[in-house]
Amino acid sequence: MKDKNTQLHASSISNPQQFWGQAAQAIDWISPWDKVLDDSEAPFYHWFKGGKMNTCFNAVDRHVIAGRGSQIAIQYVSPVTETEYGITYLELQAQVSRLAGYMDSIGVKKGDRVLIYMPMVPETAYAMLACARIGAIHSVVFGGFAANELATRINDAKPKLILSASCGIEPSGVVAYKPLLDNALEQATHKVGHCLILNRSQLEASLQQGRDVDWQRGVAAAPNIDCVALEATDPLYILYTSGTTGQPKGVVRDNGGHSVALAWSMKNIYDIGVGDSFWAASDVGWVVGHSYIVYGPLLVGATTLMYEGKPIGTPDPGAFWRTIAKYNVKSFFTAPTAIRAIKRDDPDGEYLEGVDLTCLKYVFLAGERCDPDTLHWSEEKLKKPIIDHWWQTETGWPVAANLMGYAPVEVKAGSPALAVPGYQIEVVDMMGDQVASNESGNVVIKLPLPPGTLTTLWQNEQRYKDSYLSMYPGYYLTGDAGYKDEDGYLYIMSRIDDIINVAGHRLSTGRFEEVLCQHEAVAEAAVIGVADELKGQVPLGLVVLKKGVTLNEAELNQQLRALVRQEIGPVAAFRLVSAVQKLPKTRSGKILRGTMRNIADNKKYNVPATIEDPATLDIVRNTLTRMGYADAHI
Ligand code: COA
Ligand code: AMP
Repeated sequence: MKDKNTQLHASSISNPQQFWGQAAQAIDWISPWDKVLDDSEAPFYHWFKGGKMNTCFNAVDRHVIAGRGSQIAIQYVSPVTETEYGITYLELQAQVSRLAGYMDSIGVKKGDRVLIYMPMVPETAYAMLACARIGAIHSVVFGGFAANELATRINDAKPKLILSASCGIEPSGVVAYKPLLDNALEQATHKVGHCLILNRSQLEASLQQGRDVDWQRGVAAAPNIDCVALEATDPLYILYTSGTTGQPKGVVRDNGGHSVALAWSMKNIYDIGVGDSFWAASDVGWVVGHSYIVYGPLLVGATTLMYEGKPIGTPDPGAFWRTIAKYNVKSFFTAPTAIRAIKRDDPDGEYLEGVDLTCLKYVFLAGERCDPDTLHWSEEKLKKPIIDHWWQTETGWPVAANLMGYAPVEVKAGSPALAVPGYQIEVVDMMGDQVASNESGNVVIKLPLPPGTLTTLWQNEQRYKDSYLSMYPGYYLTGDAGYKDEDGYLYIMSRIDDIINVAGHRLSTGRFEEVLCQHEAVAEAAVIGVADELKGQVPLGLVVLKKGVTLNEAELNQQLRALVRQEIGPVAAFRLVSAVQKLPKTRSGKILRGTMRNIADNKKYNVPATIEDPATLDIVRNTLTRMGYADAHI
């Protein structure tokens, strides 16, 4: 099968116009494009320029027109509220067109931004699709972020409308969203005129008169609205992701290229088509949720599962398996950390006993490196192909994967397999020269990127160029490091920047440092990601205190943990922090985070020639050892 795969990839690179022009037949167009790929403004590329279509029409209405209105579009499974129900394509169309009607009635027009801060309920998908229906640009913010993070995104996206809910439900209890939203709106300099609030039965939100409207009441009075014709190149959404600074990056995705790429991936990577059941156990606030809870499965007329719960504890580590069996899931997508959590609570797979998983053909893993232990445990217990694949918020869909719907290849532990058609992946050294097989380097992708990938950063073309395109002209910098083996299999090993990956969630250590430095006792802070058995990585902070600070360490730690939770949110999972007398730095003042990370994870490291004070490494090692990380004997 590898040859078949290689040929397909080669054809996508040698003739992208033909390859993607053909793939675009899976989408209904109002009028055809002038050119499949317009590179006249390189390094900004425009896919399907001149073409007109509507993403919502392709994800919803066309399935009703095709006679599949009674098929379940979204199967909602919420163990935390003990609720399960299905929404047919016909019902989805009614919900979405009515919500779009509400948006239109309050003056939301094409190109306006709508921010969505919601839990895992079907209304979140309605909200995204309603925006797509009228050409408003949605920006979904993950519910685990705090008010301050929400305010930063409100200021950047400048939404006309915010959709939110009274609460989310976590295993720890009901999380009130509305006070967080109110707080964010107070902090934000951009003023938002309208908020539509979904009141859930678990908690009633208080509404601010003149600004807030109850969801049911607002929508009840609204007319149904049809899909508008959009340019393929019009933006569909902005999704903020962590960069190396505290300011998140607003990844912009278009309509046409996105629909084409997702439809292609559903068929060729995930082996999913009309009527199949697909489940991505993620959150709509992340890119996986955008692409593979909402848009991808609906674009191809499949049934998508939307799950409000966790892999464990809601109520037990068998929840995933029973749900797969109950809803006939063919392809299942989750993060390695979720499998590690299940493995920890059910090492022998006892919860699999008696569960008939005949329906399940594949398990796809992404979001972080899949360690071989997790892969082998899943293979052994589930007896299904476990498919690692690699991608990022920016790309929107897989960059390296095993094409299970086209030509599956051998699975190699630790590798997301081969470059997906459209992506020319190279591993290069600092000078941009390709390294030999099995040698590590920076992973880059030759421009142009295929359809569906980011077109720019929201209102910040310069940052787009600086972050991704300037280091190696003609190439997109992924920010990941790794190598290719002699068969062209890719291995993604680490980040080259200060981004960490906590339970599949991408976070910036720079943002943690900014927050720690807000504390009046802190003079300086360094945050690194250290290895964690469950979450892959967790943040660990070392702070230097201002002279004369009298707080005891326990008090200080408690305050710093609370500060990070308040400013970034619970998703930061910030628990490890300690004070040190001095941080290791180069003579030019750069903190040696990489060296500290290696010490913490017991990896080999060289004392940099440029170090200002070698004794600082001993200080850090002793502190990390005390915290249970660096091994004192190394
Ligand atoms: N709204 C509000 N709070 C949220 C939230 C949301 N949408 N999502 C998470 N949180 C909170 C949690 O309640 C928890 O708070 P706590 O500190 O009060 O307990 C905190 O954020 C961390 O949550 P989480 O990352 O879920 O960690 P956990 O320790 O509760 O659970 C796992 C561990 C491994 C079970 C969980 O991280 C998991 O399911 N990971 C899979 C990740 C995934 O699918 N990633 C998507 C990329 S593909
Ligand atoms: P995000 O943008 O949040 O999806 O995070 C993307 C980052 O997660 C990538 O740049 C990688 O660092 C990491 N990542 C995602 N999937 C994988 C994978 N399959 N293997 C290794 N790292 C991965």
